Formats: sequence, structure tokens, C-alpha cells
Amino acid sequence: MSKQLDAARSSKQLQTDMHWKENIVYEIYVRSFNDSNGDGIGDLRGVLEKIDYIADLGVTAVWLSPIFDSPNRDYGYDVIDYRNIHPEYGTMEDFDELLQAFHERDIRLIMEIVPNHTSSDHPWFREALKGKDNPYRDYYIWRPGSEDGGPPNNWTSFLGDSSWKYHEETGEYYLHTYAWHQPDLNWENPKVREEICGAMDFWLEKGTDGFRIDTANVLSKDMRFPDTDETERIQGSGEPFYKNGPHIHGYLREMREKVFSRYPIFTMGESSQVELEDVEKYTLPERRELDLILMIEASKICDESNDMWQSKPWELRHMKDIMRKWLKDLHDEAWIGMYLSNHDHVRMVSYLGDDEEHREQSAKMLSVFLMTLRGTPNLLQGEELGMTNAHFFSTIDDIKEQQALAYYKLMVDERGEDPETILRRVLKKNRDHSRTPMQWTDEGGAGFTTGKPWQRINPNKSEINAAQQENDPDSVLNLYRRMIRLRRDHPVLTLGTYEPVLDDHEHIYAYLRENDEESWLVVLNFSRTATQVELPFDLRDRLTEADCAVCSDESKLQDLSRGSADLDAYAYFVFKLN
Ligand code: GLC
Ligand code: CA
Repeated sequence: MSKQLDAARSSKQLQTDMHWKENIVYEIYVRSFNDSNGDGIGDLRGVLEKIDYIADLGVTAVWLSPIFDSPNRDYGYDVIDYRNIHPEYGTMEDFDELLQAFHERDIRLIMEIVPNHTSSDHPWFREALKGKDNPYRDYYIWRPGSEDGGPPNNWTSFLGDSSWKYHEETGEYYLHTYAWHQPDLNWENPKVREEICGAMDFWLEKGTDGFRIDTANVLSKDMRFPDTDETERIQGSGEPFYKNGPHIHGYLREMREKVFSRYPIFTMGESSQVELEDVEKYTLPERRELDLILMIEASKICDESNDMWQSKPWELRHMKDIMRKWLKDLHDEAWIGMYLSNHDHVRMVSYLGDDEEHREQSAKMLSVFLMTLRGTPNLLQGEELGMTNAHFFSTIDDIKEQQALAYYKLMVDERGEDPETILRRVLKKNRDHSRTPMQWTDEGGAGFTTGKPWQRINPNKSEINAAQQENDPDSVLNLYRRMIRLRRDHPVLTLGTYEPVLDDHEHIYAYLRENDEESWLVVLNFSRTATQVELPFDLRDRLTEADCAVCSDESKLQDLSRGSADLDAYAYFVFKLN
């Protein structure tokens, strides 16, 4: 093991045997975080400039969105070199410096690895295109067309087109679970597994502290490629044949054995469509696969199942059901990562809170929620400021992310649907909402850039920015810092049991977090209006002399401790019980 790695290891402060559970992870979407050289694109030196801001948040780990060389059609999720930094983001020296700066502050650095597919510009794919007998051909998945010459089966990609693209010169189709320019790697090929393991090893040897593994549960496909019955489903209709596929556990165990087990790191698997048993298989420690699965359900609570671009209203009971499943019913030793938004979803305050009249209050309530749930919390940059969706997007040209653009094209150009309706859907949900530049100040470039930003800055930077919140003890930012501190000081908030209270209440979300030493009660009003709450009798006694660790309105404490109170919109209370 390298010297650097030893130094990194001894500087870690959360060196318990369950450190993956105790981390609080901050997602940095590098492109939109901070631009150090005025080209309008966030970069590694930009992250370095903000290192003290990140350390002051109190987070224990940072996950960097992909920074590898890439044509950026999917902003780094289309890799052309797993061992080199994209020049837009900086150099390897910048990276090494950043890694050291994080370690000096006891912050872990988690890299993103994209193992399911490469870019079609990756040298392996370019070789593969040269002919059926090229040694790289089998790095990807090729099949002849069906009898009528069309694609080998009826699956759709996550962008809604066929999962197969025809290559004229060699007369075969290749599989792409995502966009046509993201060909799927063939994980059945041991050489592919060796390449990806080698790349992961390269970053770990440098002393990085783990990976967010992109789309970790789709690597193994049913290689018979049967037709899907889910023909109503617009995106990803072949999913039943590759989610948690036949060899997935073997592949992950191989990664664990050959790579992860040699370093003091943790791994977070991104995955769509997992059930309790799947997460147990992936994360029970004795199975030696991943440390946690990132739980996607809360951020998809409004998505229609056959078309993720169509929304359904959500009710608090849906959220309670999701949490009961993942925080109470999941095996005690299995583990999830918890998030309400990331770079693939809209901003949490805009879909779970109220980003107009009650923006600040609802952003605070949601930060209390995220920081008091079981699981390893992941927060997205800007969430700590209560950053909102980009309501100023008004035309399709405002959108840069490929899934939204592909949907628009599919529905309008190919299926002849009403452009206005489709535009409305796309404006509501696109992934650029969470990718607008960080709002550091109220200046023209929001303190993000002195140049022309790659994506438009939200004009609400004048009310929502870090500089102003820094000086306001009651800001969302300062509450987030307190909540992070509280979670770190009281392991019960991470590891304790989760027990819902008032489960049938339509607007109040209350739960107990307990271990042998401590009991905590969290009471949240998820509604835009004032709401009456009556606490159960057994809790009233325990509340009489309880400490209110965090509360939105002290004048309600007396009523609450008597068991009944009228709580303001988005009120929040966190009690340490006797
Ligand atoms: C994951 C990433 C997303 C990306 C996709 C394809 O879902 O989070 O941003 O587009 O995988 O790699
Ligand atoms: Ca830059």
C-alpha cells in the first residue's frame, strides 16, 4: 500500500467498523460548483477555493460527480478515459492537491465510477466498431437483428428509444441501456471486469475513499434478450431482464474481493428498482458486496410508473410508506443511503416543500427531516441554501440534459404529441433544475464565475445565496450546519431504530429514533397550513422535561409538552426525550 494511502488512512476520524453508516455525504456536481478560471465551467480548483466552506458544513465525505475525460453528452456519465481528468475540470496535480486538502480536513473523497457503459468515443468502442473479430468487439454487447431486420428485441432505453443501435458496416446491433452514445459494456467478459477493477484500483491507490457506483444493479443482463411485456412503459422497458440480473452479486463480490477489501473505503451503489431482499443481498456485511444502496424512491415519489416525465400528486402517507419500508422493515444490518435530491432530480424544496411563500421554512423542515432519518444522508450542493428549481426555464433551448431533450424529441417529433404539453412536462422535471450554478453571492455570476456560465444562473440568487446566509444565524445554511453537527454528536440519529408515530396523520410526520441510551422524537408539519397535532399519551409524559434540540417556534413548546398544539406551516421540532 502506498505511503499516501497510509497517511490518508490515519487521518480519518470515523474509523469505526461501521464508518460507512456514519458518514454524511455532500454531492458536488463539479461543473456547477465553482469556476476558478472564468470559462463558465466549475472545476477542481474551484472546489479547492471553497474547501473551508465545505469543511464548515461538517460533512464527513464529499462525492464528486464524474470528472473523467468525456465528450460530455451526459456530462461525464459517458467516459472516454477512466484514468484521466477532463481538461475542463483541471489536471491530475489539481486533483492530488484537492484530495490532500480534503484529507487534511478529515473529509473523505468519494469518486463516481460508471461501470455499465462507456462513451461511444471510448477507444475500446472505436476498436469494437472495426470488425467482428476485433479483440475489443466483445467488450460490448452485439446481436444480429430480428427476423424482420429490426432490433433484436423490443426493449426501450432510459431515453425512450430502442435499446439497440444498428452498425451498418458490421451488420449488427449493440445494446445501450441509456443513450445510443453510451454502449453497454459486456460484464460477462472477464477482461471488462478487469479493466473496471483496474481503474477503480488506480483511484484508490491515490488514496481516495470509495465510490458511488453508477447504476450498480444493471451490470448483468439476461443474455437471451427476451422481449419485454412492459410495452406500456416508455423508458427502460427491458429493465426486468437486467435489474439485479443473474450474475450481479458475483460481479460485485469480485470487485469487493479484488479491489475494495484492500482499502479503508466505502461504496454506495446507485440503483433503480430494488426491493428489500435485493438491498439485503447487496449490503448485508457478511455477503461482502457493497456498503450501501442509495434509496431512489423518495426522489421519484411524483413519477408515473410508465413515463417518468408525467407526474402524479404525492401524499404524505406515500412518503411514510417508503420510509417504513426502508428504515423499519429492512434487515437491521443492511443499509441504505438516503437522499431527497441529487443531480438527476428536481430540487427537494420545490417538490416536497413550497418554494414560494414558505421557501425558507420548508427548506429548513426538509433539512431536519433528512438529517434525522436512518441511513447515510447524501445532500446535493445548494440544498443547504434552500436552492430551488429553475422556474425561469421557458423554452426547450434552456435545457441541456439529454434525457429531457430525448423525451421532447421522441414525443413531439416521432409521436406527434402536442409540443406545449410535452414542453410543460419537460420544464417541470428536467435534471437541469438541480444543475444550475451554485449561488455564492448576489453578483452577476453569483460568485460562481466571472465568465459566461455553462448553464443559466437562477435569478433568485439575489435572495438565495451563501454570502447572505453566512451572516444570518437563522438561515437555512446555519440550520443545516446545526443538524449535521447534531447527527454527528448523537449516533442514535444514524443507527437508532425508526418508529413512526401518528402514522395516519395527513400532514404531521412524527417518528422516534431510539437506541439503548437515547430516545429522540421528531415532529414535522409537512403542510402549507397550520395543523393541529395531538401526541399519544405515552409520549406526553416523556415530553414534560424533554430538551428541544431544534425547534422552529419556541412558543409552541409548552403546548406540545402538554400533548396538543397548533403547528405553523412546515414547523419542525426535534426533542431528546427523558
Ligand atoms: C445515473 C446517473 C445519471 C446518468 C445515468 C447514466 O443514473 O446518476 O446522471 O445519466 O446514470 O450513466
Ligand atoms: Ca473553469
